Amino acid sequence: MQAKLNHGLAALLRRVGVVPVLTIDKLDQAVPLARALAEGGLNVLEITLRTACALDAIREMVRAVPGAIIGAGTVLSPEQGAAAMANGARFIVSPGMTPRLIDAAATWPVPFLPGVATASEAMALADMGYRVLKFFPAEPTGGVPALKALGAPLADLVFCPTGGIDAAKAPGYLALPNVAAVGGSWVAPAKAVAGGDWAAVTALAREAARLRVS
Ligand code: 3PG
Repeated sequence: MQAKLNHGLAALLRRVGVVPVLTIDKLDQAVPLARALAEGGLNVLEITLRTACALDAIREMVRAVPGAIIGAGTVLSPEQGAAAMANGARFIVSPGMTPRLIDAAATWPVPFLPGVATASEAMALADMGYRVLKFFPAEPTGGVPALKALGAPLADLVFCPTGGIDAAKAPGYLALPNVAAVGGSWVAPAKAVAGGDWAAVTALAREAARLRVS
């Protein structure tokens, strides 16, 4: 059941092209940030579980921005996945995979996007029925040439690269046939978020929303 749901992620990711990866430092920034991104056309958002207010941020975004699809990132354990879903997360992202996470994800009612950086990791997940994988950390792992090379032997797999991608680098990834979307934090610069410059965030989102895969 879960693997089938993971297959469905490809269409969702292709529809948006860019998934903002957001680390929320202050809870009162969460809803205005989600609204600013959605207004710019980016409505699939990954909230990393790296800050104390991350779960509350997910819950408030889900409640206040119903047009957005809010997921949780940096999920390292089944317990974190469960907490994220209890707060309304509609997809779960991990930088990698562990046997515990894979076992738990098989029971989750929402899709799981596990991370890989090598052919062996991708093959292991493909064996388990996963088709859509996060490629992380994309730039340090070899970037566009690496993902292009993986696509030759692993032609059935679809990737969402994240890590070190910005507006200039995103088009190179999105031109690859095995990329459904890219993830990144560049659409929500720390300075704009801290200063409440939501117009700047919307402008970056609008630019990013034009990048989706052809
Ligand atoms: C992450 O998990 O931090 C994401 O990959 C975002 O990376 P970025 O900040 O380099 O875009």
